[in-house]
Amino acid sequence: MDKTFYITTPIYYPSDKLHIGHSYTTVAADAMARYKRLQGFDVMFLTGTDEHGQKIQRKAEAQNVTPQAYVDHVVAGIKDLWQLLDISYDRFIRTTDEQHVLAIQDIFKKLYDKGDIYKSEYEGWYCTPCESFWTETQLVEHNCPDCHRPVEMAKEESYFFRLSKYQDALIRLFEEHPDFILPVARANEMLNNFLRPGLEDLCVSRTTFDWGVPVPFDTKHVVYVWIDALSNYITALGYPNLDGDLARYWPADVQLVGKEIVRFHTIIWPAMLMALDIPLPKQVYGHGWLLFKDGKMSKSKGNVIDPVVLCEKYGVDAVRYFLLREVPFGSDGIFSNEALITRINSDLANDLGNLVSRTAAMIDKYFPQGLIQERVAGVPDEDLIAMVRDLPAKVEAAMDQLQFSTALAEIWKIIGRSNKYIDETAPWVLAKSEADQARLATVMFNLAETIRVVSVLIQPFLTQTPPKIWAALGIPEGPQTAWESVHTFGLYHAPHGVAKTQPIFPRIDIEKEIAALDAMIIAQAAAAAAINTTDTNPSEPAATKADETATASASGVSTPNPIAPEGVALIEFDDFLKVNLKVGTVKSCEKVEGSDKLLCSQIDMGTEVRQIVSGIALSYTPEQMVGKQVIVVTNLKPRKIRGAMSHGMILCATTEQGYKVLTVDAAVPAGSEVG
Ligand code: MSP
Repeated sequence: MDKTFYITTPIYYPSDKLHIGHSYTTVAADAMARYKRLQGFDVMFLTGTDEHGQKIQRKAEAQNVTPQAYVDHVVAGIKDLWQLLDISYDRFIRTTDEQHVLAIQDIFKKLYDKGDIYKSEYEGWYCTPCESFWTETQLVEHNCPDCHRPVEMAKEESYFFRLSKYQDALIRLFEEHPDFILPVARANEMLNNFLRPGLEDLCVSRTTFDWGVPVPFDTKHVVYVWIDALSNYITALGYPNLDGDLARYWPADVQLVGKEIVRFHTIIWPAMLMALDIPLPKQVYGHGWLLFKDGKMSKSKGNVIDPVVLCEKYGVDAVRYFLLREVPFGSDGIFSNEALITRINSDLANDLGNLVSRTAAMIDKYFPQGLIQERVAGVPDEDLIAMVRDLPAKVEAAMDQLQFSTALAEIWKIIGRSNKYIDETAPWVLAKSEADQARLATVMFNLAETIRVVSVLIQPFLTQTPPKIWAALGIPEGPQTAWESVHTFGLYHAPHGVAKTQPIFPRIDIEKEIAALDAMIIAQAAAAAAINTTDTNPSEPAATKADETATASASGVSTPNPIAPEGVALIEFDDFLKVNLKVGTVKSCEKVEGSDKLLCSQIDMGTEVRQIVSGIALSYTPEQMVGKQVIVVTNLKPRKIRGAMSHGMILCATTEQGYKVLTVDAAVPAGSEVG
C-alpha cells in the first residue's frame, strides 16, 4: 500500500478519568482514521497519555501511591474507554514508556548541543505552599490560582528553548502555508496575538518536582511539559530512529487538538521540529469545545458527562453519532441532555432505524423467496437514485475537510428522502394488485439499495450499526459492503433473503431519559460541591439537589468510609485549604424575581462588596438578612442563578426547620479569614 495517512490526537492527562469532551477529539480522529482505511490508505492513528508533571505527582501523593501506580490505574481506565467507544487506534503512547523517555533525553541533548537549549534563570510568581510558578496572567486577584494564597516573585535555575530564534521562520510558515492550521481564524489568532508581538524563549525544565524525564546531563532538572508531551508524535514512530515508521508515516497528515492547545502545536511544536531538522506536520486542526449552556465542563463543577454511562444507556453508536453530528468540527458546541436524546430518537430511531425495519419487513412480507431487481421505473425513482449517486462525492468532500457533521447531514438527507419515497410509492397499495408486482419489486429494490449505500458510508462514524443493517437486509459482507461499492447503484443482492432482526435503534422515552440524565448531573454537581476534589471517581451520585440552593449543605459522596460520617468521603487537609472562607456583613438583600427560594445579598467583604445568591428565602426574609455576619466561601467560580450572578456561597446548616446561616459569636471586621 503506497498511500499512508498519519493522524494524531493530543495525549491526555491521566490525572483523572476522561469525560465526554476528551472523547470528542478521539471519536473524531477515529472517524477520520476509519474513513481513510476504507479508502485504502495505510493509516497510523496515534493516541496516548501525557503522564508527567506536578499535578499528577500531587494526586498520587494524596492517594499515598507512587505516580507510576497512579497513572497506570487511570491509563487502564482510559484504554477501557477507548475500547468501549470502538476507537481503532494503531498505537498508544505513554510518556512514561522507556523508549519515549530515552528519546526525550536524546532530543534535549541534541537541542542543548546545538545551542537551542541553554541554562538561565526562570523568574515568575511563585506560590511556596504549592511549589508552583505562575505567570502574571494565570494569577487570580494576584493570588495563586490553585490555593488562592499570596505569591511572591522568585527565581529558579532552568533550561530554556530558544523559541525566539524561530519567530521569523514561523511567520513565514503561517503566511506561505495557509492550510497549516485550520480553521483559518485560528491561524490569524496565532499570528496576531503571539507571533507578530514577539516570542519569548520557553522554560523547558523544572527543579521543584521530580515526576518527569530527567535532563540527561543535569539530573536535578526534569524536562518540563511541552518538549516531553509534543515529542510523542515522533517518538511513537521510533524517533530518534529516522527509518522505519518515522520514514513511512511522518510528517503527520493531520494533528487534531482542542483550541486551547493550538498555540503549543503551531508555535512550539514546529519550532522544535525546525530545530531538530525534521519536516513539519502537514496540518494542525484546532477543534472547538463541547460546552454546557453555562460554560465549560469541569470536574470541580461536577458537570462532566461520563461517556461510559451514556454508552451503557444508549449504545456506542448513539454517542459517536451525537458527538460527530451535533457540532460542526472547529466550532464550540453545546452539550445538553435534550439535544442528545432528541438526536437519538429522531435521527437514529425514527429516521434510520425505521427505514431499515420497514424496508426489511416489507421485503420479507412481499418477497419471501428473494427480491430480484426489476426495472419498472416510477416518477420518484430518478430523484432518489440521483441523490444516492451524488452522495459519495458529497461525503468525501466533507470528510476531506474534517466536516463530520456535514457528511452525516448529507447521508441523513438520503435517509429522509427514502422515508418519503416509501410514502410516495405506497408499497402496501402496490402489493394488493398482481399487475403491480414488478413495480413493487423495483421500489423495494431501490430502497434496499439506498440503504446498502448508506450502510457503507456510515462506517467511519457508526461502528456497530452497519453489520446490523447488513444482517437485517441479508447483505453478505464483501463486494457489496466495500467502500468503492458506493459508486455503483444497483448492487443489492440478498442471496438468502432478509432476516428478522431487532430494531437497530429502539425508541426511547424522551422525557424519562432527560429527567434521568438531569438528575445524574445534579447529583454530580452536589458531590463536587461537597469538596471532594481528590476523589478520582467523583461522578458517583450524591444525595442533595444543589441547583437552586447556593448554600453549603454538605451532601453525601458515595464511598463508604469507616471514619468519616456515613456518606461523606475523607479529604486531605490540603483539600480543605483550597476552600477560602471569610466573614462578610450583609449590606442589603432582596428576593430574586421569579423565584420563591432565592435571595440576592450584597455582602461587605472588607475590601469589596460581593453579590451572592442563596436558596434561603423560605428561611429568611431579606430584612432578617441585612446586618448579619455570615461565613462566605469566596473562591467558588461565579455562577449565574436565575439570571443573577452569584460570586460565592453563604454557609448554612440544614435543619428540619429550614436553613440556619452560620455566623460569628461576636462582631468581627468584614473580610476576616475563617479557618
Ligand atoms: N496533555 C495535554 C495535551 C498534550 S498534546 C502533546 C492536554 N491534555 S488534556 O487531557 O487536558 O486535554 C486533551 C484534549 O482534550 C485537548 O485537546 C482538549 O481540548 C480536549 N478537551 C478537553 N475537554 C474538552 C471539551 N469539553 N470539549 C472538547 N475538547 C475538550 O491538554
